[in-house]
Amino acid sequence: MHIKNICCIGAGYVGGPTMAVIALKCPEINITVVDNNPEKINSWNGQLDTLPVYEPGLAEIIKEVRGKNLFFSNDIAGNIEKSEMIFMAVNTPTKTEGEGAGMAADLKYVEACAKDIAKYSKSDKIVIEKSTLPVRTAEKIKEILEKNSNGIQFEILSNPEFLAEGTAIQDLFKSDRVLIGGDNTKSGQRAVKALSKIYNRWIPESKILTTNVWSSELSKLASNAMLAQRISSINSLSALCEKTGADINEISTAIGMDHRIGPHFLRASVAFGGSCFQKDILNLAYLCKFYGLDEVAEYWHQVVKINDYQKNRFVQRIIDFFNGGVKSKNITIVGWSFKKGTKDTRESPSIHVASSLLASGAEIIVIDSLVDEERIKLDVNEWLINYGLSKEEVNKILTKIKLSRSFDNSNSDLISIVHDLDSLEIEKLKSNNIPIIRI
Ligand SMILES: NC(=O)c1ccc[n+]([C@@H]2O[C@H](COP(=O)([O-])OP(=O)(O)OC[C@H]3O[C@@H](n4cnc5c(N)ncnc54)[C@H](O)[C@@H]3O)[C@@H](O)[C@H]2O)c1
Repeated sequence: MHIKNICCIGAGYVGGPTMAVIALKCPEINITVVDNNPEKINSWNGQLDTLPVYEPGLAEIIKEVRGKNLFFSNDIAGNIEKSEMIFMAVNTPTKTEGEGAGMAADLKYVEACAKDIAKYSKSDKIVIEKSTLPVRTAEKIKEILEKNSNGIQFEILSNPEFLAEGTAIQDLFKSDRVLIGGDNTKSGQRAVKALSKIYNRWIPESKILTTNVWSSELSKLASNAMLAQRISSINSLSALCEKTGADINEISTAIGMDHRIGPHFLRASVAFGGSCFQKDILNLAYLCKFYGLDEVAEYWHQVVKINDYQKNRFVQRIIDFFNGGVKSKNITIVGWSFKKGTKDTRESPSIHVASSLLASGAEIIVIDSLVDEERIKLDVNEWLINYGLSKEEVNKILTKIKLSRSFDNSNSDLISIVHDLDSLEIEKLKSNNIPIIRI
C-alpha cells in the first residue's frame, strides 16, 4: 500500500511530537494532526514559543515542516476520509466510574475515534493504536469498525509509543526499538510492512520489532510497569536508608554497577509522576484481576502503593521538621511539573506535597521554569476539592501560592526539593542559607 496521507487523531504529548518527526523524515507524506479541542489546534498553529507541548528541539522541527507536509486541523471527518493510514493517539486515563473505576483504562476516547473512523471512511484504511491500551483492545476496535464499515477493509496495528517526556524528540530520533504488532494474515502483514517502511526512513531494520497485536499491546504496559517498579524499589530503600544512616545515592551507585541491575532509573525521588506510569500499572493490575490472577494483580498494585507511601512520607518529613505544625510556615517547593524539562504536571508528586501542606495551613512558593501559575492553581484546586474542601475554602488557600522562576529565595522557612536537580542547582539553593529537605 502506498501511503500519501496520514491522519493522527489526538494532538497531545504523543500525537504532536511523533507526527512532527515522521513529517520531517518523510517529506513526501502529508500528515494532518486533528483534535476535537480547537484551542489546542490553534495553539499548534500559533507561536512557536507557546506550542501546547514543550520538548527540546520540537519547535525547530515544527518551524521546518508546519504548512509544508505537517498540518494541524479541526477537520476530523475530512482528514479521516482522505488518509490511507490513521493513528489514534488519544488519551486513555484511568476510569473514574463504572466497572473497573479507579483501575481500568477508560477507552471512551479510543472508542469515539473508532466510531469516527468507521463513519467517515470511504476507502480501506490502516488504523494504528498509538495510545497505550489494555491487551486485546484491538478486538473491540475491530468490532466497532466492522459494525459500521459498509464493506470497507480496516487493518488494525498496534504501535505503542515509548518516548519519555522531556527527551521526546531525541527518543523518537533514536528509538531503542519500534514495536509493530499486526495480524498474521496477508493483509495484516502488508499493513505491518507499510508502517515499517515509514519508520525505516530513520530507524534501522534491526530495531523495528514486529509481533502479534496482543504482544505489542501488552509490551507497552509491561514496559511501564517494569520501569515504575524500579523507581518504587529504590524509593522503598530510601526509607530504610533514612532510618539507618545509609546513603541512598551511594546505594544506587553501588547496586547500579552490577550490570544485571544497571544504573538507569535508580535515582531515589519523591515519587514517580506523569500521566502514564500510575494509570498503566493500575490498568495492568486490573487486567490481571480480570483474568483471575489476584496475586499478580496485588504484586503490581504494590508498586503504586509504595509510590503513594513515598509522597506521604516526604510530606511527613516536612511536618516533622516543623515539630508537627506547618501553619503559616513559608515552604518552597522546587519543581512543579512531574519531572524536569517538561511543563506537563499530570500526576506530579509536587501537587500532592504542596496541596497537603496548604491544607494544613502552610504558604507555598513554587520554583519552576516552565509551568505557569494558572496551571499550578488548577492542579491544587482539583486536589483540594477531591480532598473535601469547599470552593470558598479552596479559593482562600489558592492565594497562598506564589510562583518564582528563580532559585534565589530568601523568604522561606524551608526548601523542599522535588525535581531531580544537578549539583550546580543544589549549590545555588544552598546559597540561600535555608534548610533543605529532599530524598
Ligand atoms: N505522554 C507520554 O509521555 C506518553 C508516552 C507514551 C505513550 N503515551 C500514551 O499515548 C496516549 C496519548 O497520551 P498523551 O499524553 O499524548 O495525551 P494528551 O492528553 O496529551 O493528548 C490526547 C489528545 O487527544 C484528544 N482527543 C481525545 N479524544 C478525541 C477524539 N475523540 N477526537 C479527537 N481528539 C481527541 C484530546 O483533546 C487531547 O488533545 C495515551 O494512551 C498515553 O498513555 C503517552
